[in-house]
Amino acid sequence: MTLLQIRDLNVVYHGSRGAVPAVRGVDLALEAGRTLGIAGESGCGKSTLAMAVLRLLPRSATVSGEILLSGEDVLTMGWGRLRAVRWAGASIVFQGAMHSLNAVQRIGPQIAEPILVHENVTKAVANRRAAELLEMVGLPASHARGYPHELSGGQRQRVMIAMALACDPDLIVADEATTALDVMVQAQVLELITGLVAERGVGLVMISHDLSVLSATCDRIAVMYAGRVVELGAARELFAHARHPYSAALGSAFPIIGDAASRRRPGGLAGDPPDPADPPPGCSFGPRCPAAVAECAEAEPALLALPGEAGRRSACFVAQSGGAVRGETRGAVR
Ligand SMILES: Nc1ncnc2c1ncn2[C@@H]1O[C@H](COP(=O)(O)OP(=O)(O)OP(=O)(O)O)[C@@H](O)[C@H]1O
Ligand SMILES: [Mg+2]
Repeated sequence: MTLLQIRDLNVVYHGSRGAVPAVRGVDLALEAGRTLGIAGESGCGKSTLAMAVLRLLPRSATVSGEILLSGEDVLTMGWGRLRAVRWAGASIVFQGAMHSLNAVQRIGPQIAEPILVHENVTKAVANRRAAELLEMVGLPASHARGYPHELSGGQRQRVMIAMALACDPDLIVADEATTALDVMVQAQVLELITGLVAERGVGLVMISHDLSVLSATCDRIAVMYAGRVVELGAARELFAHARHPYSAALGSAFPIIGDAASRRRPGGLAGDPPDPADPPPGCSFGPRCPAAVAECAEAEPALLALPGEAGRRSACFVAQSGGAVRGETRGAVR
């Protein structure tokens, strides 16, 4: 059975800016033991999607569609079941989570806590598991006695991964889990996550701005723009041969894995993504697109399978009619 199946997911925030449609009509699937990358610039809806999977969105958000975790719909399950699923079924490593460790509690008990709460084991057993988990993420078990401030950023991020693994989840969602780390540490932590995923047959959803990081670590990639998936395909092929102009720009943005400077200016791509509360007519990427044709201002292209390109989908009229997606460079697209 498919581990995670998302069907026609829509999320709208209601707040001071009126209705903000942050995720629009997203369909995605992930099999056990596989990895799915989600790429896109800031504000494209990546974290909203991640939070929807574990029903962690604020009350101001309305959600529609289906999120099936091993066949069970997360959006309609009762609270008791949801609590159980949040630990044993799926767990999430949040964006910037390494800053959310409790500063005045030792590391070991913080890792042992979910094990104690959700499994019927003694404190000694939970502590032993915590020590094993630390070793699994490459930290000496003696760190269990230490406090978060005694660890480096990379070590704290490893502790977060240990916590995510504590109750042996089937699915891990890692939201920019390595973005704040320097390049060397980022590579180590990524290797660690993907190694654990392969070893344990866990499903991984990995969210990043950085398409090159995702192409090196994931099986498949979904590129999001303005709340929609605009391209979907096998990771390496998508990175090497984008079939949506936005993916092409995002791909050329990160010539070096984890390069911090290019992270701030994706590909020198001119302009910003649209405000989801006030989208442009037609294709959301149209106003920034180097390959846009007249049709692009008229209607929003659907995400369609491209003939002859196995498993590849693109929401681009130009790609769908067999054209080149890079077009004439407009603005500063490299
Ligand atoms: N609680 C909220 N209320 C209203 N709007 C929100 C809320 N949270 C997020 N948004 C809006 O929803 C859109 C998507 O935000 P989201 O955090 O999902 O983006 P993201 O792709 O994770 O970006 P980043 O790369 O910066 O983390 C943005 O336009 C954001 O302003
Ligand atoms: Mg985010």
